[in-house]
Amino acid sequence: MVDYDGRLHQVYATGQALAADSLSIWMDVAAGIAPAERPLTVLDLGSGTGRFTPALAETFGGPVYGVEPSAGMRAQAAEHPRVTYLEGAAEAIPLPDESCDLAWLFLTIHHWTDPLQGLREVRRVLRPGGSVVLRTQFGDRMPELHWYKYFPNARRVDAAMYPPLAEVRSLAARAGLVAEEEPQWIDAYEARTVQGMYERVKLRAFSTFEHLDEDELDRGFAEFERDAATDPERQLPVVPAGVLTLRRPSS
Ligand SMILES: C[S@@+](CC[C@H](N)C(=O)[O-])C[C@H]1O[C@@H](n2cnc3c(N)ncnc32)[C@H](O)[C@@H]1O
Repeated sequence: MVDYDGRLHQVYATGQALAADSLSIWMDVAAGIAPAERPLTVLDLGSGTGRFTPALAETFGGPVYGVEPSAGMRAQAAEHPRVTYLEGAAEAIPLPDESCDLAWLFLTIHHWTDPLQGLREVRRVLRPGGSVVLRTQFGDRMPELHWYKYFPNARRVDAAMYPPLAEVRSLAARAGLVAEEEPQWIDAYEARTVQGMYERVKLRAFSTFEHLDEDELDRGFAEFERDAATDPERQLPVVPAGVLTLRRPSS
C-alpha cells in the first residue's frame, strides 16, 4: 500500500501541479459527464491535495466534499467557501445516501484496499441519475510514458497497480453502476520538453517510484538527467489520459 503520509504528500502538490489550461480541460470533461442541472453537489473522492476540489466548486456551483484518508495530503489543500474536506476513504464514505450528483475519482481507485466496496459506496452516496468521472490507467491499456524507459521495472509496476478495463467495468456492474464500453482519451496534459519532464519527474510524486529500489532510481534519474542536459528543448508527445464514465441508473 502506498503511504501518502510519508514522503509523497511533501512533493505531490509541486510534482503533480496542473497548468490552468489543463485544469480547464478537466473541468470541461467533468461538465460533459455530469448531470445537466446546476448547481450540483460533488464528491471528490481521494481528493489528495485538492488539485481539482475548488475548481469543481466553481464549475458546478454547489457544495463539494473532498474525502481523503491522508492527513498530510489534506493539509495541503486550498480552502474554498463551498468545499469541505473530510477524513475518510472510499470504503466508508462519510456522507449520507443519495447526497451527491457527481463523483470525481481521479487517479485514486488503484489505491483503494477494496475497490468493489468503494464503488458500492460511490453508488450509495450518488443520487439516481448521478454520474462518476473515473480517471485511471488500465493495466491492459498502459500508456507509453516517456520516463518509463529510464526505469526497467516502472511500466510493469504500473501495469500491475492498475486494474484492466474489463475488471473495472465488472466491479462497477457488481456495485450497481453502469460503465461506458470504452474510455474517453483526453489530451489534457501540457506539452513538455525533455528538461521540463525531468524537472517534474525527479520530484518522484508518482506512486510508481515507491515500488522501485534505490539502485534502479539512482541509475534511472542519472540517465534521465544526462538526456535532459543533452537535448533539453526536445518536445515530448502529450500522452492521452483515460477516463471512464459510470452512472447510477435513474431507477
Ligand atoms: C495519486 S493521488 C490522487 C489525488 C487527487 N485525486 C489528484 O488527482 O490530485 C491518490 C490519492 O488517493 C488517496 N487514497 C488512498 N487510498 C484511498 C482510499 N481507500 N479511499 C480514498 N482515497 C484513497 C491517497 O491518499 C491519495 O491522496
